[in-house]
Order: sequence, then structure tokens, then C-alpha cells
Amino acid sequence: MCGIIGYIGEKNCVPILINGLKRLEYRGYDSAGISIINNGNTCIVKNKGKVSALEEKVSLMKLNAVLGIGHTRWATHGIPNEINAHPHSNEDNTLFLIHNGIIENYQTIKKGLKQIGYSFRSETDSEVLVMLIDSFLKKNYPLTKAVQLALSEVEGTYGIAVIYKDEPDKIVVARKGSPLVVGLGENENFIASDVSAILAHTKQIVYLDDGELAVITKNGFLVKTILDIEIEKEVHEISMSLDEIDKGGYSHFMLKEIMEQTESVTNSMRGRLLLEDGDAKLGGLANVIDKLVNSNRIIISACGTSWHAGLVGEYMFEQYARIQTEVEYASEFRYRNPIITNEDTVILISQSGETADTLAALREAKSRGALVLGICNVVGSTIARESNAGVYIHAGSEIGVASTKAFTSQLIVLALITLLIARKKSLSAAEGKELVEAMQELPDKISHILKLNDTIEQLAEEFKDSKNFLYLGRGYNFPAALEGALKLKEISYIHAEGYPAAEMKHGPIALIDEKMPVVFIATKDSTYEKVISNIEEVRARGGRIIAIASENDEEIDTLVDYSIKIPDTVEMLRPVLTSIPLQLLAYHIAVKKGLNVDQPRNLAKSVTVE
Ligand code: M6R
Repeated sequence: MCGIIGYIGEKNCVPILINGLKRLEYRGYDSAGISIINNGNTCIVKNKGKVSALEEKVSLMKLNAVLGIGHTRWATHGIPNEINAHPHSNEDNTLFLIHNGIIENYQTIKKGLKQIGYSFRSETDSEVLVMLIDSFLKKNYPLTKAVQLALSEVEGTYGIAVIYKDEPDKIVVARKGSPLVVGLGENENFIASDVSAILAHTKQIVYLDDGELAVITKNGFLVKTILDIEIEKEVHEISMSLDEIDKGGYSHFMLKEIMEQTESVTNSMRGRLLLEDGDAKLGGLANVIDKLVNSNRIIISACGTSWHAGLVGEYMFEQYARIQTEVEYASEFRYRNPIITNEDTVILISQSGETADTLAALREAKSRGALVLGICNVVGSTIARESNAGVYIHAGSEIGVASTKAFTSQLIVLALITLLIARKKSLSAAEGKELVEAMQELPDKISHILKLNDTIEQLAEEFKDSKNFLYLGRGYNFPAALEGALKLKEISYIHAEGYPAAEMKHGPIALIDEKMPVVFIATKDSTYEKVISNIEEVRARGGRIIAIASENDEEIDTLVDYSIKIPDTVEMLRPVLTSIPLQLLAYHIAVKKGLNVDQPRNLAKSVTVE
């Protein structure tokens, strides 16, 4: 979703802004722009399309300035074009604003501003905000106060950065619902919507919280509430490295991230498995473990891929921890007045830790007294910070819009939590040890699966022109089927549906003909025979079958058109393995169709609006 960067210091900010915007491209965007202020001169440059086009435009202009802001826009109000792109400015181009989020009452504010003579160039909600701030500047309020007064009239969400020609010594930023960080340097400071934009310059980060406003100067920063109460903020030293956000020789971030899963899964388990005790150790849950173990009910809430991980978690928690578990789309949970008590635990799963719906679900659960746990990847993210306790998945930066390694690491953390609870309940040390051993064997098994890359690429050639796909699985592999279908549709734009295999005959079977590829997850587990019956049903109707099967299963080859053989593991951990060939299949189909795998159309990496 939209990205923000800003610089104040002694260097030319233009390359810093452009390179920062390039780092934010992975979030998804459709237009970009910068504005700068230097020695009383101002300039704004914007365009529809890629940051590289903006860079070309800017390089011809030979700009130089020590203060500037830049933005990548993901359209909400108004089509992607140059006028709707950010920054937005006041009429005389002295005040510039970039905005992430949605101003819900912008029509009302716009009407009021029109009545006092303001006119508007764009269709955006964001332009209203710059004009509103301008209206307070015209009443002789200083910039910070004008921003505070404007924001007190605003309903909705925002991460904003504002610069003003008459106060060129500062950037004013504010946050409600959209992430913002301040990066600290020597005689220079930065602001960004996520640290990757400024990681090349600093690792000293201050995370802003909702309702906070910061004034950033060359040599310092001051944080206040929108109501002007000063706040002390902690400076965090982040450990993320630049290598993590580079492609490392791969053609796409998505492929790099798929290939990294041997390592990312290892990192998610590192120091957390106790082989001899057949147990897990999760420092982040130490203070809440009794409450968690004695929960009446666990509710997992998330969106997209993280929701699929939650479904696997439901199977795990109910099978081993014997705690009733429900999985809810965060977007539904937040608005349906859910019944939650202080005996419930609500687990929010989010790679980014910034997804607006998941964050709202967290706040809803917290306000109703539940124990709230976060399973996040991005360290210091809002969901991680607002949870009562939690566990980081430590998958490393995930840049590709299609989530891959975060999914398998989320499953690892859910398995660790399962083990931790189950061992405090009825799971014996010997049973726990079997699970621990199975987890420790996963990295080698993942390496083995990743070696199938070339075979899966050939399969992709065969199926790249298909118009629809069905993905079917049962038990733990049902969520893996959903995830396989989501991967394919989001990057290849092929319509794909995931179903529990047995559910097929209640409707989707009507779609089966010789043009319909059906991907079965048919590993040798407790539902294997049933899945084979479902395969027979598809075969009888001429469907083309691809099976993700166990490596020792030769029989299945007599029933399916293609099989991808993978190592077995305990049932609970199967989706960690079965999801990987499906990620590769989706990836190669999209590449063969010539699509932009890392930045698929209309999608954003982190969905920070409702
Ligand atoms: O950052 P989150 O895990 O909260 O994101 C949730 C979804 O937006 C995300 O998983 C989305 O579905 C991905 N594009 C899936 O690949």
C-alpha cells in the first residue's frame, strides 16, 4: 500500500527520496512523487506509473535540496494519474503533504473549504487535508499547530508528512492507523512508512504510535500527541540488514523467498525446541503461559495467507492442545460484535503486523478483556507492539507481495505454541519428542522439495494457459489447498478455488471437464484413501490431475496425470511441506505468462486501509 519517505539534513535529498521509494515499491503502488524545498524554492514532481519513470523525470531537472518528502500511491479515491498522485500542495505551492490512509469525512471538510474559497485539483481525500492545514496557516498558526488543528477535524486513518516553505527547518508527521517511523542520523533525520525505505542510512528507529505527531528537524525530533502533550519515545536499534531486502541474485523476491525457506524455517525454530523434554520454549509467552493454557477458547484472527495459517493452527490446537479454536477473518470479526470473554485468548497472525483489519480485531479483542497474542514477522510492528504478548516468526524480510516464507514460518510458530500448550496438558514427553524430531527434520525435507524447482517449472509450461484451477486437500492439507489457490490467483490472475476435497461433490464437481486442472494434495496421511476416492471422481469426469504426493507412493501415478513427490512428515506439519511445491507452481506459471510476480496488479504487500 502507499509508501512514505522524508529527509531533512545536509545532503541532497533527491537520490535519498528516489532510492527510498524504490525500496517501498514492493508494497504495491500505481504512481509516485516527491516535493522538495531549498533556499526558498519549492518543487513538486509526480507521475503515474513506476518510480523509475519519476527518477528519469527528476534527473533531467537536476534538483538539489536538503529537505523533501516522497510518496508511492496505491489509489483509493480517484484513478491513478499524475494529478491524484502525492504530494499534494496548497494553491501557491508552499505547503506539501503526503498521506497514507483514508480521510472518511473528506466530503464534509471539502464542502466547508469550498465555501471559504478553496478549489481542488484532484479527486483524492488527501488533498482536502493539505487545504485544511493551509486554512489554519492562513490564520497565522505555525505549521505544527496547524497540523494538530486540522487533524482534530479529521475522521479516518492517516500517516502523513508535511513540509512548508515558510518553516523549512522541519518535517511534521502524524500517525493514526498507518505506520510511520522516524530514522535518526548524524545531522540528518528521516521519516518513512517502513524501515526498509531508510535502512541504507540508519538503524536507529523511533516507532510512532497512533495519535502521535512528531516534529523532525536536522538535529532532533520531538513527539507529542495530537492534543500537544509531549511524549518520551524509545530509540530502537534494528537488526535488519540491507542484504535481507535485496534480491540476492534471484530474478524475483518471490523466488528468493521461496528458496530461503530451509533457512527461514530453521530460524523460526532456533533456540525454541527442547528435544530431551519433547517441549518448546517461547520467551515471548512466558508471562502469559498459564492464562493461555487455561483458555476457555482460542480465536485466531487474520487476513489472506495469515488466515490460512490460522486454519492450520485450528487443527493443531484442537488435536494436540485440546482447546476449542475458531478462526475468523479479521475484517468480519471486527464488525460482528463477537462474544469474547476474559477467559478467551485471541491470536492475531500478521506477517507485516500492520494489516488494518487485523489490528482492529486486536483492539476489539483487547477491549473485551481477552488475552491478546500476536504472531508477526516485522519486528516492532504495530500488532506486535499492541499485543499483550507474542511470538515473532523470524522469517526475515518478506518483500514479494505473495507471502511464501512467512506462511511456512507462521506454521512453525503455531506448531511451537501447540507443543508448549499440549505438553502442559496431556501430551507425554515421548509424544512431544516425536514432534520435536519431526520439526528438526523439516529443513532437510524442504531442501529436498526445493530441488524439484525445474520439474515444477516444466509443469508450469504445461498449465500456464489454463483459465481455472481447483485445489483440493483434506484435514491439515485443506488450508494448504486454499493457500495454493490464493498464490496462483494473486500472481498469475488465473481463477483458482481451494476446497476441502470431499466438498467438491457438493458443487464444484460441476466445473470438472478436460480443461480443468485439479491439484490434489494427496500425501499418505489419515485421509489418504478418501482423497484417492475424490481423485477417482475427477478422473471419471476427464479432469487433468496434478497430485502433491508422498515420495514412496507409486500407486498414485496410475491415477493422476502428473505427480510431485515430496517427503512425509507428521500430519500436523504436512502443510509446511505441501505448500512449497504449490508456491513454485504459482511462481513459474506467472513468470511464464510474463507477469510482474513481485508486484501483482492491484495488490499491496501490507493492507493498511479497510
Ligand atoms: O501482513 P499480513 O500477514 O497481515 O497480510 C495479510 C494479507 O494481506 C496477506 O497474507 C495477503 O493475502 C498476501 N498477498 C498473500 O500472499
